Amino acid sequence: MKFGFPLFPESASTLAPQVDAIYFFGLGVAAFFSTLIACLIFYLAIRYRRRSEDEVGKREKAAMWLEIAWSIIPLGILLFMFAWGAKVYFEARRPPGDAVEYFVTGKQWMWKFQHPEGQREINHLHVPVGQPIQLKMTSEDVIHSFFVPAFRIKMDVLPGRYTTVWFEATKTGTFRLFCAEYCGAEHSRMGGSITVMEPRDYEQWLARADSATGPLALAGAQLFEAKTCGTCHRPDSNLLAPILHGLFGEEVTLASGDKVLVDENYLRESILDPKATVVSGYEAKAVMPTFVGQLSEEELVELISYIKSLGDAASHGETPEESAG
Ligand code: CUA
Repeated sequence: MKFGFPLFPESASTLAPQVDAIYFFGLGVAAFFSTLIACLIFYLAIRYRRRSEDEVGKREKAAMWLEIAWSIIPLGILLFMFAWGAKVYFEARRPPGDAVEYFVTGKQWMWKFQHPEGQREINHLHVPVGQPIQLKMTSEDVIHSFFVPAFRIKMDVLPGRYTTVWFEATKTGTFRLFCAEYCGAEHSRMGGSITVMEPRDYEQWLARADSATGPLALAGAQLFEAKTCGTCHRPDSNLLAPILHGLFGEEVTLASGDKVLVDENYLRESILDPKATVVSGYEAKAVMPTFVGQLSEEELVELISYIKSLGDAASHGETPEESAG
């Protein structure tokens, strides 16, 4: 940041140097070949200029090695850039296994955040440094895009489904957050910041911050009760509806014969539109009502977190034998 004008965004995540390396390599290749071609145009124009009024041009035959060289070399450079870009792309797309999950809801015109321990924030997110953070994002209205230049991350935030992005901050500080998808009159103001803290400071911040609902899974458990989901989704019986324990991450067979993976998007659809994906064997019993309009995005996240937190039915404390004793 020379002369106080940021020519290039700060680099504050593990991804940032990798993205920058590809960017500068591509820029370097483009600059080199642009300069080479510009110089050759001048050189060849002068070298092969017409020297007298009645001179007739004659065909120059390029050497075979030259033809091969100028095909093979650019091909090699481009394939190298493709392979390198693909490697970084896949790393950027796949959150590491130890990533901690936060939830983001975009809304005209603000960003709402939910911490795993239940703390909520608007437009400003606090996270610890050196910890992979996974963001599960959705929108309450139109398409937004979550963009943090210092982390080199940008991901569309869509209504009706979850998209994921992850980062690991490498330095403490406050970094700007933008909406990068035109979403209405106040789009340009739909921003905020991410504050990266030392883990100890973050713990203190968490303790101070309001977490009225407690951990997401706990809030989800209360909601599960309040909405009487347990009447049918009983942990000890799959007579009326599928058992939810140990379900997350498994594949289920639908009435249509298709197999689907139980992930956040599947659970979300099953809550809002249960008839869309009825599990095989429950066709006749599919009486679950839709919950469209009855649950906020935050509540959906809590319910999904609760279902994710459920272990196998056998190992769970809610089986009748154990709760009786
Ligand atoms: Cu939200 Cu632009």
